[in-house]
Amino acid sequence: MAEPHTGHTPDGGPARAARSHRRPMRVACIGGGPGGLYFAALFKRLAPDADVTVWERNAPDDTFGFGVVFSEEALGGVAAADPVVYRAMALEFARWDDLDVHYRGEVITCGGHGFAAMSRRRLLAVLQDRCRELGVRLRFGRPAPPAEVLAAEHDLVVASDGVHSATRDARSAAFGSSVTSHRCRYIWLGTDLVLDAFRFDFVPTEHGVMQLHAYPYSADASTFVVEMRDEVWRAAGLDRKAPVAACERLFAHVLAGRRLFGGAAPHWTTFRTVANSRWRDGNIVLLGDAAHTVHFSTGSGTKLALEDASSLATALHEQPTVDAALEVYEAERRPVAESLGRAGRASLEWFENVALYLDQPPLQFAFNLLSRSRRVTHANLRLRDPEFTARVERACGVPAGTPPMFTELTISQLTLRNRVVVSPMDMCSAAPGPDSAGGEPGDFHLVHLGARALGGAGLVMTGMAGVGPEGRLGPGGTGLWNDTQTAGWLRVTDFVHEHSGSAIGVQLGHAGRRGPTHAGWDGPDRPLPADGPTPWTLTRTDLARIRDEFVRAARRAARAGFDLLELQYAHGSLLSAFLSPLTNRRADAYGGSPAARLRFPLEVLDAVRQDGWPDHRPLAVRISATDWAEGGNTGDDAVEIARALAGHGADLLDVSSGQVVPDERPDRGRLHNSGFADRIRHAAAVPVVAVGAITSYDDVNSLILAGRADLCALGRPHLYDPHWTLHAAAEQGYTGPGALWPVPYRPGSRPPYAGRVEARRARPPLLPDPAPAATRHRRWRNGTAP
Ligand SMILES: Cc1cc2nc3c(=O)[nH]c(=O)nc-3n(C[C@H](O)[C@H](O)[C@H](O)COP(=O)(O)OP(=O)(O)OC[C@H]3O[C@@H](n4cnc5c(N)ncnc54)[C@H](O)[C@@H]3O)c2cc1C
Ligand SMILES: Cc1cc2nc3c(=O)[nH]c(=O)nc-3n(C[C@H](O)[C@H](O)[C@H](O)COP(=O)(O)O)c2cc1C
Repeated sequence: MAEPHTGHTPDGGPARAARSHRRPMRVACIGGGPGGLYFAALFKRLAPDADVTVWERNAPDDTFGFGVVFSEEALGGVAAADPVVYRAMALEFARWDDLDVHYRGEVITCGGHGFAAMSRRRLLAVLQDRCRELGVRLRFGRPAPPAEVLAAEHDLVVASDGVHSATRDARSAAFGSSVTSHRCRYIWLGTDLVLDAFRFDFVPTEHGVMQLHAYPYSADASTFVVEMRDEVWRAAGLDRKAPVAACERLFAHVLAGRRLFGGAAPHWTTFRTVANSRWRDGNIVLLGDAAHTVHFSTGSGTKLALEDASSLATALHEQPTVDAALEVYEAERRPVAESLGRAGRASLEWFENVALYLDQPPLQFAFNLLSRSRRVTHANLRLRDPEFTARVERACGVPAGTPPMFTELTISQLTLRNRVVVSPMDMCSAAPGPDSAGGEPGDFHLVHLGARALGGAGLVMTGMAGVGPEGRLGPGGTGLWNDTQTAGWLRVTDFVHEHSGSAIGVQLGHAGRRGPTHAGWDGPDRPLPADGPTPWTLTRTDLARIRDEFVRAARRAARAGFDLLELQYAHGSLLSAFLSPLTNRRADAYGGSPAARLRFPLEVLDAVRQDGWPDHRPLAVRISATDWAEGGNTGDDAVEIARALAGHGADLLDVSSGQVVPDERPDRGRLHNSGFADRIRHAAAVPVVAVGAITSYDDVNSLILAGRADLCALGRPHLYDPHWTLHAAAEQGYTGPGALWPVPYRPGSRPPYAGRVEARRARPPLLPDPAPAATRHRRWRNGTAP
């Protein structure tokens, strides 16, 4: 095959890492899947002198799996790295745009997805051909020699031996490997039924829901993956039945007489998440599924393996030594694999918990499904298929022309004009009070909270206010236990009510063992030096006193004009410490079982609800949905905690996570808590606030429309931009009642003109220009001609 010039064409000599060896570099690949073969071909192309061998234990055309699907974006990378391979793949592709969701007797179609799929067997054949053409030695039908033997004889050993990598497992300590199996069973089959769209089918059965992921991959076949929870699989007796025939019966309505086929040894399996804290051990390096897996429902595993291959080959080409190349490779690929891994986990959990969503209206269910991994958003789908998103919005009661984030929400008797919340943030800026106890909200709080209320959020929350001097976070933390503080808060709420359309809520808490500390900007949780109290085990008398402090503070909060009260049961504060098994070490009725750990937090909630806070005003509770630590609370526990809190009168659960123990290992990517909020909302049937790295208005629209959250709280984005909500409205061209600009600010209610005038072209330059320059400038800025 002729090779066109590309940016990746070799510079006329062998790769740099290869050149630094006195003899041609020797490379062994263990495993001839897509990752190993593609790496071998790309590297050999860049370093023609190198000696490259791929060992594949199977015969060349003996593989697992049927079609693999790629997105347009994934194919762009392949085209850039080796156009020869890309062209050969492109000849094989089945391409289509639509995705059909079959659910409750309806078929919901969403278009514009740009899928391409091909047979895995043909993909391997293309890559094998390319390897042969470039002079890679291929050894089929036998396992590779042990990695340590290869490592002694080669400069580099690439462990591309897949999810079950024996190379990795034999060195799991060196790689820091973790392999986790999940709750669903699946089987990867093929069928001679040729679909014309990606098809998801959700089949409720007496045993539970079963789901189908199917898509065409050639002119005469489709991939057919059947998946369900392990307990559904057992209850349906599928552990005892021949799998292919059983799936043919279960999905007879889809197959309409067509057959399923299962390859050499079709079997049910569970998805395994593979992660490694290091990808190299000496001169052995992990690549593809051996290094990281991503749930098959994201259709990205092959893409990741191909991209790894390209990155490693390029790094070896560009870096002076193998060591340097391996460092660059891992630095380049790890963040991508981790980000896709998070998306894959969100998708996996969605399918594991699909039963939770079965009461959603079909269109919302379809939107929820499509946006499950958080990578596909409201804005993406609107670009792909505007009619689809418009139908979903109509079905969810979103008024025409209104972004979902600007719909109203009523909780108890409080109506919020939009779904944005300024998340509670302690500003460590309280003024010292006359009784030297301090904790007074002062001018800083008036301006800070006032500005955020003018910024358009539906609800503005104060940072945690202590219920007593001892429960404050630190000297700068606010409180709500005396008249001066109450008056200070009243000044703030009066301003918010008079000058903005926002509601204002207070977060009440007791810092417990997290206080008193220095201000947050001096470093997290730094205790005060001298005679501050140290944590002690509370007596029954202490508990009664603290409960009463909460009640009195809640009464003061009502008098201070707050519209909503949130109890702080998160982040290692006193009541959070009761909930977590890692911090609650009590041997009495308030420690031990989950029910016992809930006892005091529920006593406080009951007392506040009965004697402290008016019935008609909403009461929220913030929890840490997981401790992010071994032996601590998990998302499952959070559902039970939320049920109990809702059962005792919480109107709203504000779902945060962690900060309970110092040795937590949080997994904080974009929207990191929204999965917990989603589960609580559906499983505990209580409205929720999602919070944590919600980065854009598109995220808010997506979470609200999918039914994952009722409100979205943003913390740091509101420190960056007090007018976050108004700006989100302006950027979406929304001018309705969900985002009212304060009258004095209206002249600034459109994004300011930015950019160099001469860099903009309003029309093709050869056309006559009828407008004078000054008018043209205005037109660009406002988008309309005067
Ligand atoms: C149900 C399902 C559907 C999927 N659908 C898609 C999809 O649509 N799109 C997508 O991009 N990805 C998909 N994937 C993921 C994709 O299959 C993998 O991510 C991809 O195959 C990883 O490539 P790899 O080369 O790293 O490993 P593999 O493809 O697993 O290749 C590893 C190879 O190593 C060989 N091997 C193992 N040990 C040895 C040894 N000791 N000696 C010699 N050879 C050895 C194996 O035989 C195998 O051929 C899907 C996965 C599943 C399970
Ligand atoms: C400066 C600062 C102070 C905070 N104080 C509190 C607090 O008093 N109570 C609380 O529950 N969370 C507090 N948080 C956590 C935020 O409410 C929010 O959960 C967190 O910042 C994640 O949201 P974000 O990614 O939008 O910032 C604080 C966060 C910041 C940045």
